[in-house]
Amino acid sequence: MLVYLNGEFLPEREARVPVEDRGFIFGDGVYEVTRSVDGRLFEEPTHWRRLQRSLGAIEIDISGALDREAVREISERLLRENGLTGGHAIVYLQITRGAAPRTHWFPPAGTPPTVFLSAQRLEIPRELRERGADAITHPDQRWARCDLKTVNLLPNVLVKQRAHAAGVFEAILLRDGVVTEGTSSNVFGVLGGELRTAPLSNYILPGVTRGVVLELARERGLPVSEQPITLEELPRLDEVFLTGTTTDVQPLVTVDGRPVGTGRVGPIARALQEALYRRMAE
Ligand code: PDD
Repeated sequence: MLVYLNGEFLPEREARVPVEDRGFIFGDGVYEVTRSVDGRLFEEPTHWRRLQRSLGAIEIDISGALDREAVREISERLLRENGLTGGHAIVYLQITRGAAPRTHWFPPAGTPPTVFLSAQRLEIPRELRERGADAITHPDQRWARCDLKTVNLLPNVLVKQRAHAAGVFEAILLRDGVVTEGTSSNVFGVLGGELRTAPLSNYILPGVTRGVVLELARERGLPVSEQPITLEELPRLDEVFLTGTTTDVQPLVTVDGRPVGTGRVGPIARALQEALYRRMAE
């Protein structure tokens, strides 16, 4: 596979990051994962805006290195040269504060950020999307800036491993008695015909797919409320589903071993899943 690192396109096995890189030492960096369908980047402007926001919040300046056009061109070249212009793929982008002797404070001004992009095929697990998946719940023990897409993913990794070891697809995170999101997805529920998801705050990632699904729901005239799902409401939901760049709309049929609604994929999740795939193919 061909990847991009700091201005160069090179085979993945030749790509090297210094051990002093602050991404390695401190997790001092941000990332984006963008979907591509038939070589076209899905919701590229929204991913770019979120990247700008994450970079701004942690004070990494890439203005000297890269602009939106460059990121788009690099992404498209990676898709082309890796034979990914047919079907579904993802482009991974990571930017760290660069390599410098280890100090907790920022390295000297002018230290170039590390910029890495790669692309890979995305196999959609069609059967799982169709039949629905299982999830567990878990306390949300992350920091108070979950709105930033940083590579500091240790709490997400540890909880996803719990889910994996339990043989389920995702863990739904709970903070102060409400659902925040999944370890790598946003969470939606249907209660009394109304679609619910946590409002944007510092406790959830503003998911690109979440935004598209809300738009698709509103276009269909579904009642939508960005109001958190409480712990008490969770067992009463008629439907639950996850959204994300690699998750699409993934219905859940059990949470903590209890069936969701009828225990079968519900009509709202199904309709929004189909609508999302249609939107991606446009
Ligand atoms: N994860 N919430 C969290 C914590 C996430 O990590 C993600 C995405 C989402 C969904 O966001 P979006 O719709 O923009 O992909 C929500 C990516 C895909 C990842 O870490 O691989």
